[in-house]
Amino acid sequence: MGYETLLVEKNGGIAKITFNRPDKLNALNTRTKEDVIQLLGELENDDSVRVVVFTGAGDKAFVAGADIQEFAGRTPMQQWEVTHGGHVYGAVADFPKPIIAMINGYCLGGGCELALACDIRIASEKAKLGQPEVNIGIIPGGGGSQRLPRLVGEGKALQLILTGDMVDAREAHRIGLVDEVVPAEDLEKRTMEIAAKIASKSPVAIRMAKLAVKAASRMPLEQGLAYEASLFGMVFTSEDKEEGVKAFLEKRPAQWKGR
Ligand code: COA
Repeated sequence: MGYETLLVEKNGGIAKITFNRPDKLNALNTRTKEDVIQLLGELENDDSVRVVVFTGAGDKAFVAGADIQEFAGRTPMQQWEVTHGGHVYGAVADFPKPIIAMINGYCLGGGCELALACDIRIASEKAKLGQPEVNIGIIPGGGGSQRLPRLVGEGKALQLILTGDMVDAREAHRIGLVDEVVPAEDLEKRTMEIAAKIASKSPVAIRMAKLAVKAASRMPLEQGLAYEASLFGMVFTSEDKEEGVKAFLEKRPAQWKGR
């Protein structure tokens, strides 16, 4: 089905989702957040989709934050309901298939938090990232205060969040906020190359590998190691494991079933 705020293209196991409000620098309004949650629900059950890529329409922005217009006049109770209703950042972080943020421009506030909830972040040299919430008298509310320090360390996270300063893509890469920086004209090609490589692997192994790595920032080491062991045991019972090992020994490409 069509979405008011999103463009969706599916090709070769990859679903590309484009935030499509370029005249508002793709700011996340309520409609967009609801659309993303609903679309991810559909893509979760769509076996033709192995990897999701998020990007922004136009040449200026990935997502320039939550829609500040919606903040005006909002009461604390209304905000409580927004925060505790369907949570787009949680829906992204807990999505069972890999999600790549293809960061083509401004990636600020809620946009940066959305990218932080993704699994891999690839940025154009033109991208600018930051958590500028303090500039309008608020703080990150989409997981930024928790996910940013886990990626870049407490000092850098505090510097970004307390100053509200933006960093360019090179600096974002240097501090670990993005995983790769490429010239703007190569962004789509490089991101799709990574997505296609992931899409070519066993869906079972990819799903379990994502769960295992995500557990590293959610669990103490002993618990995480036990969790990894149980996922490893699970993956070992899959048809894809039988096929992967057999294909290797027979020196041929594996035919994954996702079971
Ligand atoms: N929420 C709502 N609207 C936004 C927005 C946001 N987060 N970010 C940009 N827009 C809108 C602008 O209001 C403007 O709309 P208008 O043409 O109807 O006036 C349009 O997008 C273009 O933005 P503009 O500010 O004119 O572009 P710019 O190139 O001069 O500046 C930014 C770009 C990103 C520096 C600037 O838009 C900005 O600071 N945005 C807010 C970023 C932010 O604080 N995000 C975190 C929110 S918690």
